[in-house]
Amino acid sequence: MKDFSSLKNSDHYPVMLNEILEICKPQIGGDFIDCTYGSGGYSNAILSFPKTKVVAIDRDLQTKKYADKTKKFYKNRFSFHSRKFSDLKKIIGSKKKFDFIIFDLGISSMQIFNLDRGFSFNSKSKVDMRMGLNSISAHEVINNFSLKTLNDIFKHFGEERESFNIAKNIIKEREKGPITSTPNLIKIIKRSKKKDLKKKINMSTKTFQAIRIFVNNELSELIEGLINAAELIKIGGKLIVISFHSIEDKIVKFFFSNYSKNKSKVSRYYPDPPEDKTLFENYKNKIIIPTQKEISINNASRSAKLRFVTRSESDFFYPKEFKKKFKHLIDLENRYV
Ligand SMILES: C[S@@+](CC[C@H](N)C(=O)[O-])C[C@H]1O[C@@H](n2cnc3c(N)ncnc32)[C@H](O)[C@@H]1O
Repeated sequence: MKDFSSLKNSDHYPVMLNEILEICKPQIGGDFIDCTYGSGGYSNAILSFPKTKVVAIDRDLQTKKYADKTKKFYKNRFSFHSRKFSDLKKIIGSKKKFDFIIFDLGISSMQIFNLDRGFSFNSKSKVDMRMGLNSISAHEVINNFSLKTLNDIFKHFGEERESFNIAKNIIKEREKGPITSTPNLIKIIKRSKKKDLKKKINMSTKTFQAIRIFVNNELSELIEGLINAAELIKIGGKLIVISFHSIEDKIVKFFFSNYSKNKSKVSRYYPDPPEDKTLFENYKNKIIIPTQKEISINNASRSAKLRFVTRSESDFFYPKEFKKKFKHLIDLENRYV
């Protein structure tokens, strides 16, 4: 197994890279889409095998500088688009099909460690949290949204039990003036929550996750991205997703298992799902997680879960049930009051 941990051009430690390479076997070659380029950890590793081609995407305009370096090195085998992966089909068209489509969700180290971008608890600046190509920032959300919407965002996207208290105290604080910085927001969250000394996670983790998901439309992006990807994979090709929290994982798991040939039957007396209701081969519901060694090198990988599925031979159809299942989350991401 190659050791890619000292890859050049990689400010972000690529999570479970060896596992990705094990699944894709790039030494054989293949057409890849890297939906979340970051600083190119996956793309560069894949391109180091000469028979591969990579189309990469990232919504963060600051990733272009890394992509330019990759392009210089692999002129004819690499292309990059500063776009959102929900636009995958618009970017690529629907004719060309791919062997592997990879999503490495969440934010990169460059995003979290740039304190001006307001993703980190250590940030002293405005709460911002925009990954790129956004229509709203976290500052606007916490300073303008209603009690009900803030509560819903914290409850549904953060799975935060004390969502109402946090939302109520944000509204109260706004009566004095706008909430202008990350430390301000953290103080309000701390004041709103009961102290639980047994809990190891930071008190603000769930609220920050919730705001970030909303600001970046992360769940709608994921749902649209997966549907687009399923249409662009070759028969026998693989769709691979690394997720970092339970809501993302629930969405990926539902998509893979609900449209697989072995979808669990409602009852053993019911027939198999009809062929035109499946997109994937049998799905084993298997999760791959980072090794202890990887976690000790890169603690940020500890919550990563990798799932992959193989495209079956059945024709693509639009998976309406998938969107219906998560409609409440999509609707909440589109609420701006
Ligand atoms: C965890 S990082 C990926 C790191 C990358 N695998 C590497 O090895 O450098 C996630 C990246 O996905 C990008 N991203 C997140 N959501 C996106 C979306 N909807 N469309 C395009 N890019 C997105 C983020 O801007 C970020 O750069």
